[in-house]
Parts: sequence; C-alpha cells; structure tokens
Amino acid sequence: MEFTTNPSNVVTTLLLAVLVLAAAAHTDGALCNKSDKAALLAVKSALGNPPALSGWNSTVACCSWDGISCNATTGRVTELTVFALNISAPIPAAIANLTKLQIINFAYNQLYGSIPAFLGPHALPDLTFLRLDGNRLTGTIPPTVTVFDLSLVGNLLTGPLPATFGHANFGDVDLTDNQLTGDASMLFGAKKQLNALRLSRNRFKFDLGRVELPEVIDILEIDHNMVYGSIPAAAAARKWLRFNVSFNQLCGPIPQGRYTHRFGAKHFAGNKCLCGRPLPPCGS
Ligand SMILES: *[C@@H]1O[C@H](CO)[C@@H](O)[C@H](O)[C@H]1NC(C)=O
Ligand SMILES: *[C@@H]1O[C@H](CO)[C@@H](O)[C@H](O)[C@H]1NC(C)=O
Ligand SMILES: *[C@@H]1O[C@H](CO)[C@@H](O)[C@H](O)[C@H]1NC(C)=O
Ligand SMILES: *[C@@H]1O[C@H](CO)[C@@H](O)[C@H](O)[C@H]1NC(C)=O
Ligand SMILES: *[C@@H]1O[C@H](CO)[C@@H](O)[C@H](O)[C@H]1NC(C)=O
Ligand SMILES: *[C@@H]1O[C@H](CO)[C@@H](O)[C@H](O)[C@H]1NC(C)=O
Repeated sequence: MEFTTNPSNVVTTLLLAVLVLAAAAHTDGALCNKSDKAALLAVKSALGNPPALSGWNSTVACCSWDGISCNATTGRVTELTVFALNISAPIPAAIANLTKLQIINFAYNQLYGSIPAFLGPHALPDLTFLRLDGNRLTGTIPPTVTVFDLSLVGNLLTGPLPATFGHANFGDVDLTDNQLTGDASMLFGAKKQLNALRLSRNRFKFDLGRVELPEVIDILEIDHNMVYGSIPAAAAARKWLRFNVSFNQLCGPIPQGRYTHRFGAKHFAGNKCLCGRPLPPCGS
C-alpha cells in the first residue's frame, strides 16, 4: 500500500526500471554484430574449422570467443587473435569484412600463401597492430600493409620493401628472418615516430651513413644483412635499448655515446672496417 502511495518510492521504482533497461541495452550492445559474427564463422571455415576453434559457436556471443574482442558499445569486432594453434591455411579473405579491426595476431601458425592487400589501413582503417610471425608466408610485402605496429618475423618473404613504406607512419617494424632484399633506408627519417626497427637476417643492402635516425628510435637491429656505409654520427645521441649492426659491410668510426657504450664487440663484429670502442682503435 505505502509503496504505491509514496511518491519517492514511485520515483525509486522508475529509476530502477530505467537502470534495468539500460543494463539490458548495454548487454545487447555487447553482443557481437551479426555481420561480424558471419565473417568470423567464414574465417573459421577458411581455416578448416580447426578443433582449437570449436569454441567459436553460437552457444556463446561471439565477442566472448577465444581471441575475439569487441567495442562494447557497437559490438563490432576489434581484435582477432589466432595465436600458436598450428593452423595450416592461407590468410582468410573474410577478414576483410571485419572493418573495425584494430588488432590482428596470427603469430606461430603455419599460414601459407601471400600476405593479402586488405591487411592494412586502406581496407581496415582502424588497424594498428599486425603480427604474422612464425608462419610460412611467401611473396613480396604488399604496398598496403603500412600498419603502425608491424611484425612479419620468421616467414619466407622475398623481394624489396614497397615504396609506400617511405611515407607510412610506423612505430615498430620487425622483419627479422625473411629473405627480403634491397633498400630499407626509406623507413628512416628524423621526424618519424619509429622507435624500434628490426631487420636482422635478411639481404637488405643500403647506405646506413645517409639515413637520418628517428629522434625516438631506441632499438635498431640490422645484423646479418649487406648494409654498407658508416654508422650515422647521430647514433651517439640516441638512448639505445638494443643496437646490433653485426655482420654487414659497415666501415668507419663507431659513434661514441653513453648508450652505444652499453654494447660489446659482438654487436659490431663481422663488418668491413668499423673501428673504435668496443672494437680496436681506428688507424691501428
Ligand atoms: C554491423 O556491422 C555492419 C557493417 O559490417 C553495419 O552495417 C551494421 O549496421 C552493424 N549492425 C549493427 C546492429 O550495428
Ligand atoms: C561451443 O563452445 C563452448 C565453449 O564456448 C563449448 O563448451 C562447446 O563444446 C562448443 N560446442 C560445440 C558443438 O563445439
Ligand atoms: C567504440 O565505438 C564508438 C563508436 O564508434 C567509439 O566512439 C568509441 O571510442 C569506441 N570505444 C573504444 C573503446 O574504442
Ligand atoms: C602441426 O600440424 C602439422 C600438420 O599441418 C602436423 O604434422 C604437426 O604434428 C602439428 N604440430 C603440432 C605441435 O601439433
Ligand atoms: C563479405 O560479406 C558479404 C556480405 O555478407 C559477402 O557477400 C562477401 O562474400 C564477404 N566477403 C568475403 C571476402 O568473405
Ligand atoms: C647481435 O648479433 C650477433 C650476431 O648475430 C649475435 O651474436 C648477438 O647475440 C646479437 N645481439 C643481440 C643483443 O641480439
């Protein structure tokens, strides 16, 4: 009785009802977008419906599937991670329909074939993180794959880097352990945001003496290539966390700075005529 006649209780009840409705709407919003769910099932099918992805089924909302994250408001898929499941297939074309993806991680599977052109900001405008390490991908890197945080380590990629890499906005690029050739100097530039560049064990060939080191760079690993010229003098002023130029064709004095002094001779070994600490003095 009192409940229906007391106006403050009525207000409380109405507020509660609004909150319950809002919570329900929020839960609905967290449900996977239907076309994204269809695209994920197409991805699963293209991967051969592997047992490791049996949890991608309709008993659970697709935003809760292993490796999947969504924007809680829109229900659009933002992350697709299929990590270390030994899946052997080409990269599924259906990924191109997941147009709100920010993160793609297919590292340590047995993906084969070439890297499709849609894996980049042209087709997937929010994509900032792409990891395809430890697969068996072949062919050249498509010009569209200009993703801010890019890792293609340990594949069978060949050919030169695309020219588009010269005006892309990269933060972290790791191309270690492929068969890439030619110039990589377009990745450098004083004003670039690039803070980590790893090119080890490829066949890159360019003049390191002519590059401008990005101001923010603190990781440079380019060992086992055919890089020539000298180490830029600006290297003395960077706060290196990692630095490895061993086994190239470099020559000339090693720039001396507080942070280059962290690295022992093996980080400079196997070049043509580098000299100065930690190697023997120049002119000796
Ligand atoms: C789901 O995503 C598609 C784009 O793939 C969009 O057109 C559609 O409006 C979205 N559906 C809902 C309910 O948000
Ligand atoms: C569907 O996924 C759930 C886990 O999310 C799993 O327990 C169940 O066995 C799956 N169903 C089928 C038919 O694979
Ligand atoms: C979710 O999507 C909305 C609408 O596009 C956007 O405003 C919001 O920033 C997104 N949330 C996150 C965490 O990205
Ligand atoms: C990975 O898959 C291949 C076949 O594609 C199979 O021969 C191998 O045993 C698998 N390895 C593991 C660790 O499951
Ligand atoms: C993308 O989605 C549309 C509509 O569902 C479909 O017709 C098309 O085949 C999909 N594309 C890929 C590459 O799967
Ligand atoms: C630098 O390269 C040399 C030669 O490959 C290697 O022995 C050394 O471990 C590398 N250093 C680092 C920190 O990776």
